[in-house]
Amino acid sequence: MDKIKIRGGKKLEGKIFISGAKNAALPLICASLLTKDTVTLTNMPRLADIKAMNALMTQLGTQIDVFDDFVDGHPTQTYSYRTPQAVSLTAPYDLVRKMRASYYVLGPLLARYGRCELSLPGGCAIGARPMDIHLSAMEQLGAKIEIKNGYIYATAEGRLKGAHIIFPMVSVGATCNALMAAVLAEGNTILENAAREPEIGDLAQLLNDMGAKIEGIGTAVLKIEGVKELYGAVHKVIADRIEAGSYAVAAAITRGKIELLNAVPETLRRPMQVLRDMGVRVSETDNGILVDAEGCRLTGKDIMTEPFPGFPTDLQAQFLALMLTAEGASMVTETIFENRFMHVPELLRMGANINVHGHASAIVRGVEKLSGAPVMATDLRASFALILAGLVAEGETIVNRVYHLDRGYERLEEKLRSVGADIERLHESDEE
Ligand code: UD1
Repeated sequence: MDKIKIRGGKKLEGKIFISGAKNAALPLICASLLTKDTVTLTNMPRLADIKAMNALMTQLGTQIDVFDDFVDGHPTQTYSYRTPQAVSLTAPYDLVRKMRASYYVLGPLLARYGRCELSLPGGCAIGARPMDIHLSAMEQLGAKIEIKNGYIYATAEGRLKGAHIIFPMVSVGATCNALMAAVLAEGNTILENAAREPEIGDLAQLLNDMGAKIEGIGTAVLKIEGVKELYGAVHKVIADRIEAGSYAVAAAITRGKIELLNAVPETLRRPMQVLRDMGVRVSETDNGILVDAEGCRLTGKDIMTEPFPGFPTDLQAQFLALMLTAEGASMVTETIFENRFMHVPELLRMGANINVHGHASAIVRGVEKLSGAPVMATDLRASFALILAGLVAEGETIVNRVYHLDRGYERLEEKLRSVGADIERLHESDEE
């Protein structure tokens, strides 16, 4: 299995192009199931999760074409998806197990075909992550849900029916699924306490371009007037705020200076404010965001993860790593997932000073130095936190289980090398 080797101590300086957002692209791909026409997505990231979703789409009968493309001179990909008629309505265990976001086929298949069989995703490294809110929303839209043999069997007689749904808690996945189901339902739907993450705005924008009637984009109340049919559209995937935030920390932790090209400031207000409060200079430029920590002394800052516009849970591990290089103590509180401090034991092995209290909070104290070590993480964002620690640690850090990173960070070593990091991928065949 591939590994990443980093020699710490280099100050990172330069520009990094931020790719299209994985968490936007995944539901956008599934939205293409709502029409027989072609949906074209530009600025698509090159990631293992996109490949996994494409494998599922192909199995459902979607024809996919891919072209190499450029955004502002940077290489990206354009995908077109066409599903004249699905040949299967099942998302099998093997695919759902590898990628939870496979659940995004539920809403569209149910809305267009009145049926979907989806393997229950089960737990994952960061928590139990049930699907009860998704399923309750589908039931309120008129679907019948049965669970047997580890599968969800969802059926609807005729079109789904518009409903007034009040989500019991904010869920990104359930909001996207309910939105994709409601656009083809008969009558009006209101989604209250909807998630407001920018990726949902991106999805709603594509759906409206396909002929849907959604109001309230960007707010917690989405109003949808159901339509009978949707059509093809071309859509540019929004820039990945989590990738941008991760490289912002790479600049800060090495006391370097990186311009995040293509990053969208409105999607990153809270994390950028935390960086400013810690003592980093952050500014908006014509091309994105400039993070400048040259010569800065950072001080600790408390953070608490919350649904958007609060501090994103997907940046918690990276900011926790940054706190290790700041003066004083910082309290990091995780409110979204119940098991999201799996990076802590690995950081301790690099010389960190962190006390985890229960499942929800950690006290992080700045340390004089971190030292390189072989480490591994159990999830995507935690893996990036280890890369960040490796960038400032003395000596060599080897990050194992690189497949986590390949799920969500496009050309990671290339991007970090381009700003001066001493980083390389060791392929299995290179190892002694
Ligand atoms: C999405 C993101 C993930 C991010 C998370 C929170 C994708 C592909 N993934 O995940 O990167 O960390 O949002 O911003 O976009 N919950 C339930 N029942 C449900 C659904 C969720 O109890 O039916 C709980 C979850 O266990 C979790 C919380 O609600 O504790 C929020 O989860 P949710 O917003 O649904 O996360 P995902 O959509 O899975």
